[in-house]
Amino acid sequence: MNSERPPALPEDDPFAAMDAVQARTQALWPQAASAAGVPEDGAVFRRMQVNSGVEHRRCVLEVRTAGGRSFVLRADFESSNPLRQSRYLDRHQAAAESLKAISGVAVPELLWRDTQSPAALMEFVQGDTAHREMALTEYGFGDRGSVLRRIGLAVAALHRVSGAGERQFWPRPFLTWVSSQAQAVRDGRLPVPKPNKFLGLCAYLHRAARRARGYSFRAAVEHGDLHLRNILMSETTVSFIDFSNHDGIFPQRDLANLWLANCPDHLAAEGRTPGFGLVAQADWDAFQDGYGADLVNDPVFRFFYAHRLFRTWAGLCRKPTSQKLKNAEVAIRAVQIFDALLADEAD
Ligand SMILES: Nc1ncnc2c1ncn2[C@@H]1O[C@H](COP(=O)(O)OP(=O)(O)OP(=O)(O)O)[C@@H](O)[C@H]1O
Ligand SMILES: [Mg+2]
Repeated sequence: MNSERPPALPEDDPFAAMDAVQARTQALWPQAASAAGVPEDGAVFRRMQVNSGVEHRRCVLEVRTAGGRSFVLRADFESSNPLRQSRYLDRHQAAAESLKAISGVAVPELLWRDTQSPAALMEFVQGDTAHREMALTEYGFGDRGSVLRRIGLAVAALHRVSGAGERQFWPRPFLTWVSSQAQAVRDGRLPVPKPNKFLGLCAYLHRAARRARGYSFRAAVEHGDLHLRNILMSETTVSFIDFSNHDGIFPQRDLANLWLANCPDHLAAEGRTPGFGLVAQADWDAFQDGYGADLVNDPVFRFFYAHRLFRTWAGLCRKPTSQKLKNAEVAIRAVQIFDALLADEAD
């Protein structure tokens, strides 16, 4: 046996890969600091937690300068489509600009952008994620209704300043994908948990699409990855980070994502009355009050809610087996949500 194995390559060793991507990101600091007019020397870097699926290529650092100011240096070295990443930054910048006029809602301003890669220096936003604010209310800290109303108001402002006019909803492109995934399940190419239930959801999506077809709605450029960890809240301001879209225009898709991206975190807890799609009725009431729309009776929103569930469900086959327990929990909850949608349809 050869005991002299070569050193592990970064892609074999997640920690080495994370260190490498941090070093690459930190190397951008002198350039960023100089462009932003901030003293470079004496800065301290703190790695912030990023999505575990992208840790090998994305790095988000809090940079504290010697003068005590904080910034965020974020780089994503995804190599397949850097143009898309750079468009997301354009979108971030546009949203930051248009929200300046609105108090209490913000997007951190970009102070520097790399010309070679989708890396940027931005303002550090004070406050906790909305995910944490919501979790705290479950332990009796803060009023859940007020938190949700604030989030709803802020998302409404973001969509308002991102308006793309009145449109009609044509679901065909979505249905083509749903049908192809259903076929993949039937052929055994997509091993989703509870395959028959999943096929039931695909059929449901066709019916929900018929109900939403041609429906007029107020379009808005989406955030693209709107979930409660991409919303930061301080006493005074609700801020959005991590834009991941530049051309999708369905605000309902953002809203469905908000409730289901971290599934099952925002479903009605035990002892609370569930409403549409198993979100607590009181949560819908507060959020819709803030957002200013009757979402649960909007056929386009209902379509996207089921479509987000479909994406979560199909995505379970791609999740690492190390997350087996979590995946099993999500699968159980997905079936429950689907059953609730069916019961709602029958009413
Ligand atoms: N401008 C900022 N100010 C303060 N904290 C920030 C800022 N930008 C990012 N963060 C923190 O860093 C974390 C990671 O950043 P980001 O959301 O951009 O990447 P991610 O979590 O990997 O993305 P995803 O939402 O796709 O999982 C955020 O959850 C947030 O806590
Ligand atoms: Mg994020």
